[in-house]
Amino acid sequence: LLPPVTVTVTGAAGQIGYASLFRIANGDMLGKNQPVRLRLLEIPQARQAAEGTAMELADGAFPLLESVDVFDDAAQAFDGTGFGLLIGSKPRQKGMERGDLLEANAGIFSVQGAALNEAAADDVRIVVVGNPANTNALIASSHAPDIPSERFTAMTRLDHNRALAQIAHATGSPVGDVERMTIWGNHSATQVPDLDQVTIAGRPVRDVLSERGLGEEWVRTSFIPTVAQRGAEIIAVRGGSSVASAAHAALDHVHDWVLGTPDGDWTSMAVVSDGSYGVDEGLISSFPVTCRSGEYEINHGVDLSEDARRRLESSVSELREERDTIRAKGLLGPKAGH
Ligand code: NAI
Repeated sequence: LLPPVTVTVTGAAGQIGYASLFRIANGDMLGKNQPVRLRLLEIPQARQAAEGTAMELADGAFPLLESVDVFDDAAQAFDGTGFGLLIGSKPRQKGMERGDLLEANAGIFSVQGAALNEAAADDVRIVVVGNPANTNALIASSHAPDIPSERFTAMTRLDHNRALAQIAHATGSPVGDVERMTIWGNHSATQVPDLDQVTIAGRPVRDVLSERGLGEEWVRTSFIPTVAQRGAEIIAVRGGSSVASAAHAALDHVHDWVLGTPDGDWTSMAVVSDGSYGVDEGLISSFPVTCRSGEYEINHGVDLSEDARRRLESSVSELREERDTIRAKGLLGPKAGH
């Protein structure tokens, strides 16, 4: 067994928190040789519910689970943390404008960024799930000047996984054969699901699609909108938002970051832009990333079609507007580069 690591989960009493914690304790995120110490963060009103989850975690008798502690103070919750899953956030309420939502969440993510800066382990890795995820990650990072910006990521893996599933279904292929999918941009309706590089068991996806009579029309009118609007579709059909699939995607995100992407394949993560593909440096935007030995790298060798580039530009404008709204309200932290 490896030495234990500390994993902090925020919004631990919420739905995605509940769907994540037992699987983290079971080794589904970091591997069956990695003991974990869980630290759960909630707001004071939900702290007791998180205590109940901690009791159930104990009752799971997970061999890899060394300890579970519950907090309603961010600095304590992030003490020594190696992995932060930032799930808790403020949902949009009736009549709330986008700016109000950004501001409400800035209050949460600025405090958590500063607490991570003070208390987390030197090699901390952070994934923000709580929406608006990209900009929440940017806010947290801006308040953590001592943590490299590369360590703050946001989750677009659910969109990525949804795209893999749509392609597998449309082509009648096993989902494990679908590789080289990319989600670009913001985790929002403006995201850019891009299958141009996708291969199915090594064959270009376009060839496999055209054998089934599916072409550009299917990509534009079915594939892209289905992936981008899947969250709303789940709410309509299930009567509740995506929870277990979101928790699964968060675990996938961290799993691949730490344990690597398969040779020849990549995944999608929202990470700080190095200016490539026309995305302003410093914005947190989804890219194709390759992970090795616990580090990720933006894949710089992808050819973007004219159409994908145009769509990405509008997703980037949205990210820029979100950042500028936060900046105008004086809510960005002291770190340079954003
Ligand atoms: P939920 O409402 O069931 O749980 C959220 C929890 O966060 C609540 O228990 C709340 O008390 C807690 N919380 C609020 N502020 C907090 C703070 N300052 N510190 C610690 N905890 C805090 O919501 P659910 O379904 O678990 O979703 C969580 C978030 O994930 C939402 O923002 C949702 O929009 C987002 N989401 C993101 C996805 C993505 O693909 N990036 C996919 C699905 C959901």
